[in-house]
Amino acid sequence: MTQIAVVGAQYGDEGKGKVVDYLSKKIGFDAVVRFNGGANAGHTVVVQGKKLILHAIPSGVFNSRCILGPGMVINLEGIKQEFQDIKNAGASTDNIIISEATHLVLPEAVESSRQDPGSTGRGIAPAYGAKSTRTGLRAIDFFRVVKGFPCDTLDPRKNLIEKYKDFFMNYAWLAEHVKNSDEILDDLIVNNKNILFEGAQGIGLDIDFGQYPYTTSSNCGFDGIANGARIDPRKIKVIGIMKAYVTRVDADGSSPMVTQINDELGNKIREVGQEYGATTKRPRRIGWFDVPLLKNSIRTGIDILALMKLDVLDGLDKVKICSAYEIDGKLSVFKPDGCCLRNSKPIYEEMPGWKSTSQAKTYSDLPEEAKKFIERIEQLCERKIAFVSVGPDREQTIVREEILNEFLK
Ligand code: IMP
Repeated sequence: MTQIAVVGAQYGDEGKGKVVDYLSKKIGFDAVVRFNGGANAGHTVVVQGKKLILHAIPSGVFNSRCILGPGMVINLEGIKQEFQDIKNAGASTDNIIISEATHLVLPEAVESSRQDPGSTGRGIAPAYGAKSTRTGLRAIDFFRVVKGFPCDTLDPRKNLIEKYKDFFMNYAWLAEHVKNSDEILDDLIVNNKNILFEGAQGIGLDIDFGQYPYTTSSNCGFDGIANGARIDPRKIKVIGIMKAYVTRVDADGSSPMVTQINDELGNKIREVGQEYGATTKRPRRIGWFDVPLLKNSIRTGIDILALMKLDVLDGLDKVKICSAYEIDGKLSVFKPDGCCLRNSKPIYEEMPGWKSTSQAKTYSDLPEEAKKFIERIEQLCERKIAFVSVGPDREQTIVREEILNEFLK
């Protein structure tokens, strides 16, 4: 039995899908579980040569059973659209399970979040807000309505449920996918099956560990799995995904980004790396590799790392790693607080750049300077890097088998 989580170690968009894809082929998962967020995420999958962008449904949908966990917030109309896209791509949706406890993003939530420039406009914050104030509706409420089961007459939400009755009937066919995910997961675990937990966004955006209030509304790392998948998480091994630089996407650039590159080089990296939001299409802000950010993510529980998009830095004379922050002349770590982060200044180590990594097939093929960059990150954050991605193709992924095998033991 293997239980692995793939989580974002920066501000989302790290390239988690590529590692998920590799592990799915190597290990073969009986189930892929998403435990946080909703349609604010966006991952591109290629099916029979066609590009497809999925938002709430995990990218594992083409290979195994998928569970949308209790920690997610889902929009019925969005799910309908994704089901359609998956079917159009010639794949089956039979294996998609929506946990009874998954919260619903109601139309008003989408409407109000469209007014919030600090969001993706997908109703995420209002839906989690309703969950916390116990005024949210869940998939089980939807299920009861369409199956004609009575609602608890003492339920303080009964008027709200009544209000949505007709709306829910438009999606009646989806009720077949609403199941008790606790029983399904317990059964998989008892039978020693392999399970993958697919994180969305990144820990820099985590509501507790991220740059509050410039965060999303869920727990994006290992911290989100116990309640977001509703399981005992102690056997789960965690891979943190990061890029060789940092990106951050928001509407107005108001969130703090300590290592932001403000000159032409930032624009160049954005173009080479095609750094535009999959959900919002917004240009992403670009920054140098940020070790304090990564160390903060590691604090949530990360065992090994994957370094993506190293090739995007190919051809630069010099590259920088931010090894620490400074606030008012004193050394500082990443503090999960927007105000502290805005006052944090980066302390950089400058290293020689390298010509090209994209042809490298093994770790030893990499230029010495690129290896020094990787090994310096490992040294500073005290974690091993098992994957190095040097291009968009599946084959352009260097796997350091000795590190990966030790992790999988
Ligand atoms: P929300 O999750 O839509 O409420 O957005 C809160 C913040 O998180 C905004 O700055 C978004 O741009 C950012 N965000 C949310 N989801 C993602 C993601 O999947 N990738 C990158 N940024 C995201």
